[in-house]
Amino acid sequence: MDLAEIRNIIQTNRDKYINELIDLLKIPSVSADSQYKDSVFKAADYVRQKLEDAGVENTEICQTDGYPIVYGDKIQNPSWPTVLIYGHYDVQPADPLDLWDSPPFEPVIKNDKIYARGSADDKGQFYIHIKAFEILNQIGNIPCNMKFMIEGEEEVGSDNLEDFVKANRQKLAADVVLISDTSMLSNENPSITTGLKGLSYLQVEVTGANRDLHSGTFGGSVANPINTLCKMIASLKDENNHITIPGFYDKVIDLTNDERAAIARAPFDEEEFKKELGVNEVEGEKGYSTLERTGIRPTLDVNGMWGGYIGEGAKTVLPSKAYAKISMRLVPNQSSDEITKIFSDHFRKIAPKSVKVKVTPYHGGEPAVTSTQSVAYKAAEKAFETCWGKTPIPTRDGGSIPIVALFERELGVDSVLLGFGLNSDAIHSPNESFGIFNFLKGIETTVFFHHFLRSLTKK
Ligand code: BES
Ligand code: MN
Ligand code: MN
Repeated sequence: MDLAEIRNIIQTNRDKYINELIDLLKIPSVSADSQYKDSVFKAADYVRQKLEDAGVENTEICQTDGYPIVYGDKIQNPSWPTVLIYGHYDVQPADPLDLWDSPPFEPVIKNDKIYARGSADDKGQFYIHIKAFEILNQIGNIPCNMKFMIEGEEEVGSDNLEDFVKANRQKLAADVVLISDTSMLSNENPSITTGLKGLSYLQVEVTGANRDLHSGTFGGSVANPINTLCKMIASLKDENNHITIPGFYDKVIDLTNDERAAIARAPFDEEEFKKELGVNEVEGEKGYSTLERTGIRPTLDVNGMWGGYIGEGAKTVLPSKAYAKISMRLVPNQSSDEITKIFSDHFRKIAPKSVKVKVTPYHGGEPAVTSTQSVAYKAAEKAFETCWGKTPIPTRDGGSIPIVALFERELGVDSVLLGFGLNSDAIHSPNESFGIFNFLKGIETTVFFHHFLRSLTKK
């Protein structure tokens, strides 16, 4: 495979690739909000059409009880390695809208980045694979069997994916799953994610009196559920930011000194990290570095909290209810169901008699660690060396992609997390963006990944 030829094709088609991605970004496929239902289906149709245009065969829209899964493949030779490419065409809600510099579904290019909801997570990233396939098809050298599976419910917990995978083991059978839905350290220090966290997400409701009360007449005599909820949440961590839920750390495997040393070697600039986020100091579990906190230690965070009066002006009210949405990010060997259960038991136990507590679990997912010894990882490494001139650094990420553990468990297939995003892309935030350099370099790297996977696979 000729690097100059591939680079030339990408440069020649640059505007076409970008404009196709822009058309996809214009479709507001927000899976969490039913108001966007038609758009989510429309995005699935667009993806199927683009797969077909690129030369992928057997493209289809697979209906589920929720949003469809787009499938397509090109199988040429049973003795070649088979790559299953996974991505998601749904996006997070764009709120808060007033913090966007331009409308989230009217993509604009500024400072060599495409700004739009979903640009980096995950439309811009999975579109890389459709264009890489198109190039391989165009040069008449698709070195591997290829399968595409692009889903539309990732951002809401992929509820229908497990059934789909179980019902389609044969169709999805592959030697490796290839996913671009993570980020790299920086463009100067490309990296490959080798670990993702699991997730346990729940909502808690604390109820005091049976109705809202006058905060003067009743204040100080019955529980204020907001005050109580704050105290309960505050008690979940001690002064060292260690989580206090009994049993929470029981299954966590401590990293070896070698593993910790490897993390410490990663070129991470904490001053730059603080500056970029506008914080004077970092904060987290005592005894661990920032990269350890984000990559290998379990965490607990309130994602949203509400109750009482939040309208304009002042209303003197003692609320009847208070709510919070809480996420726990889990590390290898912790189980999402188990952690959800011990959290729920503990939270009910610490509630004072003066309130009632309800805990509602939402979606979860298991943590995953991917191998750095597999042929596919080596192929990814060589692709980076060829295209970026650097050996990628293996890193652990704090985000969750539950399908990685599911593919491993149900299909026995390991994943390679070939992410091309950057932490500054602001995924899930206002002004999400994806660098055009990263988009195009991702296409180039992916082309070479397939090439090296085939050549490194022993016949
Ligand atoms: N692409 C992200 C996950 C991610 C982001 C991994 C950055 C590594 C680095 C994915 O779309 C996502 O947002 N996942 C959710 C979990 C899901 C179950 C809703 C998450 O991590 O919050
Ligand atoms: Mn994603
Ligand atoms: Mn996401």
